[in-house]
Amino acid sequence: QSLPRVLSGIQPTADSFHLGNYLGAIRQWVAMQETHDTFYCVVDLHAITVEHDPELLRQRTRVSAAQLLALGIDPDRATLFVQSQVPEHPQLSWVMECMAGFGEASRMTQFKDKSARQALDRVSVGLFTYPVLQAADILLYQANFVPVGEDQRQHLELTRDLAQRFNSRFGRTFTLPEAYIVKDTAKIFDLQDPTAKMSKSVPAGVVELLEDPKKAAKKIRSAVTDTGREIVYDTENKPGVSNLLSIYSALTGKSVADLEKAYDGRGYGDLKKDLGEVVVDFITPVQASVRSYLDDPAELDKLLAKGAERARAVAAKTLAQTYERVGF
Ligand code: ADP
Ligand code: NA
Repeated sequence: QSLPRVLSGIQPTADSFHLGNYLGAIRQWVAMQETHDTFYCVVDLHAITVEHDPELLRQRTRVSAAQLLALGIDPDRATLFVQSQVPEHPQLSWVMECMAGFGEASRMTQFKDKSARQALDRVSVGLFTYPVLQAADILLYQANFVPVGEDQRQHLELTRDLAQRFNSRFGRTFTLPEAYIVKDTAKIFDLQDPTAKMSKSVPAGVVELLEDPKKAAKKIRSAVTDTGREIVYDTENKPGVSNLLSIYSALTGKSVADLEKAYDGRGYGDLKKDLGEVVVDFITPVQASVRSYLDDPAELDKLLAKGAERARAVAAKTLAQTYERVGF
């Protein structure tokens, strides 16, 4: 009952999650259900900070939720919900915006990166305040831990600063969240450019969980490998092979050392062919499960409504206390 609480969110901005999302984040979400009181949300409010198509967003939100379920998020253990169904998120966000300094928010490097090379009138205020909404997402649930990658560290620092500031001005209201550094997180690299992380932008280098398995296997077989022929884990000199070994190890549970041994004296072609099969074996049942969730929209809606209701029970309490302290 008193398990430490975790909050994490994922954006519904693509048609499918990719292997990097799974091995770098979602897999840990699944594992944490055993050890933490977990709150996971599909952060659709964050998805409209840039131009978007409403019907596509609706579709992607459902598909994202279906994928999380298919990948092992158990709605009886975790509180799985869609952010826009819990109105306390933007409500708390406004209060937090009034706690944040303009200069402080201006220093967020992700905003600087995302807004660079654009006319400022084309950049939404929402993109600017995004990290404040993220702070509200976390603080609403009194989360003790937030699993974060390097790129989100600064936002978590902001969250802690805002919580601390509010607490000292108005009385202790928010738990200060800590970064949860997950062990065995695989950082997955692009198959065509193994020095860049696997991301949505370069299709040939990204294995999507919902893509045609034959296509996925082909992408693995066409992955860039390195000079030389030995199959050894060496991120410096063999980033391509090392990436394939990390994926292989993460999906099968075999250690990299065991894989190196198993492929001793064999070529890149063998490794890629076998890994292609491993990937197919992984995504095929996931796709069947996603389909079964999407084939029963009423049931999926019901499940998400239940999650939102559970989330609101916690969020409403935090918001009521916050409003009372602020003087509403
Ligand atoms: P993307 O980076 O493709 O835009 P997101 O930023 O929406 O994806 O990331 C969602 C989650 O997946 C985050 O926790 C992020 O750290 C993780 N993630 C994304 N890409 C990778 C990757 N290549 N390797 C490991 N983890 C990743
Ligand atoms: Na990212």
